[in-house]
Amino acid sequence: MKVDGKDMRPIWLDPESRDVNVIDQRALPHELVVLELQTVDDAIFAIQEMVVRGAPLIGITGAYAVYLAVKTAPAGRADAAYLRKASGRIRAARPTAVNLAWAVDRVQQKLESLSAADDLLEAARVEAAAIAEEEADNCRRIGDHGVDLLETVSRRKAGETVNILTHCNAGWLATIEYGTATAPIYVAHEKGLQIHVWVDETRPLNQGARLTAWELGKAGIPHTVIADNTGGHLMQHGLVDLVIVGTDRTTHTGDVANKIGTYLKALAARDNQIPFYVALPSSTFDWQLRDGVREIPIEERDPDEIRYVQGLGDNSLRSVLLPPKTSPAGNYAFDVTPARLVSAFITERGVCQANEEAIRSLFPEKTAAP
Ligand code: MRU
Repeated sequence: MKVDGKDMRPIWLDPESRDVNVIDQRALPHELVVLELQTVDDAIFAIQEMVVRGAPLIGITGAYAVYLAVKTAPAGRADAAYLRKASGRIRAARPTAVNLAWAVDRVQQKLESLSAADDLLEAARVEAAAIAEEEADNCRRIGDHGVDLLETVSRRKAGETVNILTHCNAGWLATIEYGTATAPIYVAHEKGLQIHVWVDETRPLNQGARLTAWELGKAGIPHTVIADNTGGHLMQHGLVDLVIVGTDRTTHTGDVANKIGTYLKALAARDNQIPFYVALPSSTFDWQLRDGVREIPIEERDPDEIRYVQGLGDNSLRSVLLPPKTSPAGNYAFDVTPARLVSAFITERGVCQANEEAIRSLFPEKTAAP
């Protein structure tokens, strides 16, 4: 995507060192910092500390981490036991986004299918790059399918501004291009629809206020950052036409794990008869789990992420303490929105209802659970 006229992705391979470069999302929007990942530990650190974040990008980083495992294998050869151990460590870096395990398994399985004479490093690189390209393509398709929903609202409103509310960052920084929740927004903007995006700040790490607002600003898309608890009020006053969010893991029965606070938006949307859409590539479906609330592992992160807020002060990034020094904090990173509150999914293969039959009919090859 364009940043000040320059094409950027959140992850790429350095053409000379062949190491993995990533945008350090912790520093945005105030600084554009690039980090080089040279080892599996670097990649695990980047995923855990949210240098990179967002389900599809976590998956792509995991895929490149397997490539780094091969690149840094002792004695230059990654045998099956070494690879399995490295993949297990990468897969466990964050628990909620299913894309991580999916992408790591895909690269690992590719490598396991090769013979000793094959070039494992090149094969890992090609597979990781293929995942990145497929996810970019999937996001564009999500945009092409999802824009119909925005066009319908625009027609109903006789061309007046369509107001979309989104939570967290499900934009290109979280994917590779276009984003998931933001893809229909980009396509609508390209088509000249009048749109405006309400951007939830998304405490505690403020991915909405920092990242979604930055992306939309760079693309010239009208938007307003709001405190997390504002959505219900806006909905009651007719200021939200639809909600679109991303997801970290969606069961094949339609339950959606996404950034903490998503569930409350879905409840408010239902109370106000506002459509609540979830945009996702198929890599985010979990084809095993049925009951999202009970079965999806919810990451609990360092309570200091709640206690401290980071921002720009005196021209450098500063961290300040909010609650009393002695107050404990709880940091649940995701919640689960039950399928019954989801109006529809926007996927790379089209829009479907949030139930097992509809999901499986879009992805028939997934019918036989592995
Ligand atoms: O903790 P994060 O920032 O990785 O959480 C990200 C989200 O919750 C996104 O909405 C989700 O990964 C979808 S990204 C297309």
